[in-house]
Amino acid sequence: MRVLVTSDYRTLSEEAAELIARAVRTRPGLTLGLPTGNTPLGMYQELVRKHLHEGLDFSRVRAFNLDEYLGLARDHPQSYHSYMRARLFDQVNLQRENTDIPDGTPGIDADAECDRYENAIRDAGGIDLLIVGIGANGHIAFNEPGSSFDSRTRVVLLAPGTIADARKYFAREGEVPRSAITIGIRTILDARRILLLASGRKKAEAVERTLRDPVSESLPASALQLHPDVIAILDEAARGH
Ligand code: PGA
Repeated sequence: MRVLVTSDYRTLSEEAAELIARAVRTRPGLTLGLPTGNTPLGMYQELVRKHLHEGLDFSRVRAFNLDEYLGLARDHPQSYHSYMRARLFDQVNLQRENTDIPDGTPGIDADAECDRYENAIRDAGGIDLLIVGIGANGHIAFNEPGSSFDSRTRVVLLAPGTIADARKYFAREGEVPRSAITIGIRTILDARRILLLASGRKKAEAVERTLRDPVSESLPASALQLHPDVIAILDEAARGH
């Protein structure tokens, strides 16, 4: 794993966006794996700026999101469908038919949706560049501790800490989804290149363990040590400085 430590969150966001922009310029039809959450907000802002002011062209890019809550309508304000529309899809020239996010609509046949999603990624030729954050408990996408390194897209129960972290985005405790659809650890490791992003003190311990601890299913992010092409961009706080 190559590690780049930046002075602050803004620089992390700029470095991440520049790495993605270079990849898109080199290969305009590449396939991205895209995260949600707080960490990539600055990166998306910078990608939108590059589109508007530097002509960064997403017209041939394909994008698969990493996960989605199960039990939220697509247009629920906290769904990752809504997040992606607001932060990226409505602001750049990504073609809607080139984007995909697991469908967590209430009542959906979730297992069939997981199969559809994994097959769609495979049929697209796999993910060229996958960007992923890390949870304070070491999760990547919604692969919580204990997830098999052979896992693929599936329904998962969220860890209590993950539910607690999500609480601030929902009006009531009872509204926070308890489960999600996530691509698996194996799906992540199948990507040709992985960009890991971590910002802030709350991530420092998980980051330190990811870089130093033995590879273990109790720490999902440690699976990234098994991949030949991972770049971690961390701000100083996440690196524990
Ligand atoms: P965050 O989430 O970017 O909102 O901190 C990261 C994650 O839990 O994977």
